Amino acid sequence: MSQNEVVEPIIGLIGGSGLYDIDGLEEKEWRTVETPWGLPSDQLLFGRLDGVRCVFLPRHGRGHPIPPSRLNYRANIAALKMSGVTDIVSLSAVGSLKEELPPGHFVIVDQFIDRTIWREKSFFDTGCVAHISMADPLCARIGDVLEEQGRGLGLDVTRGGTYLVMEGPQFSTRAESNLYRSWGCSVIGMTNMPEASLAREAEICYATVAMVTDYDCWHEDHDNVTVESVVKTMQGNSAKAKALVKAVIPALGQPRGLCSAGCDRALEYALITAPDA
Ligand code: ADE
Repeated sequence: MSQNEVVEPIIGLIGGSGLYDIDGLEEKEWRTVETPWGLPSDQLLFGRLDGVRCVFLPRHGRGHPIPPSRLNYRANIAALKMSGVTDIVSLSAVGSLKEELPPGHFVIVDQFIDRTIWREKSFFDTGCVAHISMADPLCARIGDVLEEQGRGLGLDVTRGGTYLVMEGPQFSTRAESNLYRSWGCSVIGMTNMPEASLAREAEICYATVAMVTDYDCWHEDHDNVTVESVVKTMQGNSAKAKALVKAVIPALGQPRGLCSAGCDRALEYALITAPDA
């Protein structure tokens, strides 16, 4: 990659619970993409929005048949990479761990704590070893665009916050919820790791819009989280999420240079296996 390279971005969208389509997408086509790591959660939806090429993946598959622990995260990211995706916006329903982040709020997170235990977490697990930096796990350049467009639409947006990724599928105990609060976490969900770290290994810029659906189970004045409460709030959030996506794609899709946050060069200093090994 040369310093003067002009990138024509292709925007990848990973939709969580309740988000299975992109409004206004033209030249739509669902296509099967097979990867060396198997099949992704579903076919990918290819299309254009305001002329910008986009690829949409429903994270859990259409109709939500795949639980968080059984997602083939490697195939999902590999399928987007093989489709030419340069920038991913991940949309995810989350619980809130802070009073000031009520249901309906969008958080552009900037850190993760990964408590998952069962998942294939790397493309570099045999033959070739790489240790990428995850100090800043999300793309600040995409984060800037999400923040600007979100505020422009009048959405309740918070920039920054730590997303605790739990294994699930059960929700947390109250003791766990309070423990994560004591760690300073902002939101809790089940899917963004290893999605984000695999995107980094694949040198794809990746940012998350965490859409708050509930107060998990720590809040004394609110009911404990249930699927019913998540789905109900997501129905309200999804119109806002669709408006945000519609605004963000044209802004992200303009030709640009290399990513100012460096995500697209993540492997430059990460490979440790000798080239002739
Ligand atoms: N997704 C939405 N709400 C959640 C919660 N409270 N915990 C984990 N994942 C969630």
